[in-house]
Amino acid sequence: MRDTFQSGVIAEVSKDALFLTFNQTHEPNAVTVIRSVLASMPAKLREYRQHYPDAGLHMTVAIGSAYWDRLNPEERPALLRAFPALENGERVAPSTPVDLLFIIRAEQHDAVFELAAEISDSLKDMAERVDEVHGFRYRDTRDLTGFVDGTENPVGDDRLEVALVGDEDFEFAGGSYLHLQRYEHDLTAWQRLPVKQQEDVFGRTKADNVEYPGDKKSPHAHTKRTSLKDAEGQSLEILRQSMPYGDSERKGLMFVSTCRTPEHFELMLESMVQGDEEGHADRLLEFTRAVTGAAFFAPSSAWLEQLA
Ligand code: HEM
Repeated sequence: MRDTFQSGVIAEVSKDALFLTFNQTHEPNAVTVIRSVLASMPAKLREYRQHYPDAGLHMTVAIGSAYWDRLNPEERPALLRAFPALENGERVAPSTPVDLLFIIRAEQHDAVFELAAEISDSLKDMAERVDEVHGFRYRDTRDLTGFVDGTENPVGDDRLEVALVGDEDFEFAGGSYLHLQRYEHDLTAWQRLPVKQQEDVFGRTKADNVEYPGDKKSPHAHTKRTSLKDAEGQSLEILRQSMPYGDSERKGLMFVSTCRTPEHFELMLESMVQGDEEGHADRLLEFTRAVTGAAFFAPSSAWLEQLA
């Protein structure tokens, strides 16, 4: 099973992306139809890749933590659990569960558009769309704050090691725990902040993306709050695949993390929102606000196919 992971789970940043979320309707045969739609997704992706050979098309199909038992009551990934809602004054991380998530990525918008339209059609009457957010690569993979995002991500085979469940949960090997949050930035407030202070917020320089030395990082710096170690001194890692999004009304980051355990993301989020023992929380959260938060499992393609 591990070898049949969905390529989208470890995909690199693409030029274009679509984040589509759905909730099941009350149609009597909805579960049966949705199971067969999900089972057909790996073949559908192969078909689109043939049709768009140069598009670098990837897809991640993920099932919401609360929906899992309705879709597949027989068995469940060992660590699949609800998104951890957190609140600390103005710093919030709400939990807004949804049933299904499709992330489509490519270098061409037409490929993404066409595949998304076909998925929406196949779920017609069985699932209602909750949200549809169009992500894009901004400059040299920067977030809309102007800082390069993803630098400290694992590379090469480490991406698989960090993101994919292994033999510890044999039935679900090759799957991945996925967390999705939509952040809305206050870019007006951010742009008022002098560049040096913006750099202090991340603990990295802006133009050339150099990490501050450890003793120069504020305890409130985003990279300080998210660089965590376990009791043995090993770094806790996640694979981030976030994308900027925006229109004239709302602008920000679709934050996506995949990992072989949900725990790393949960500990990082807690460290950002609640802070350390002395209450040093993440300064970045003064300029951006999570408006959604949901936990999913993205099973291997082989597991999806056996749903038929
Ligand atoms: C690092 C942006 C939310 C985890 C970074 C960096 C940027 C960034 C610019 C530095 C470069 C890099 O290594 O990628 C943002 C923005 C966010 C956000 C704009 C929200 C709007 C989160 C969340 C988590 C997270 C919710 C996890 C719960 C990390 C980790 C690193 C990082 C693990 C690498 C830290 C290191 O080892 O230096 N982020 N991030 N980020 N972020 Fe975020």
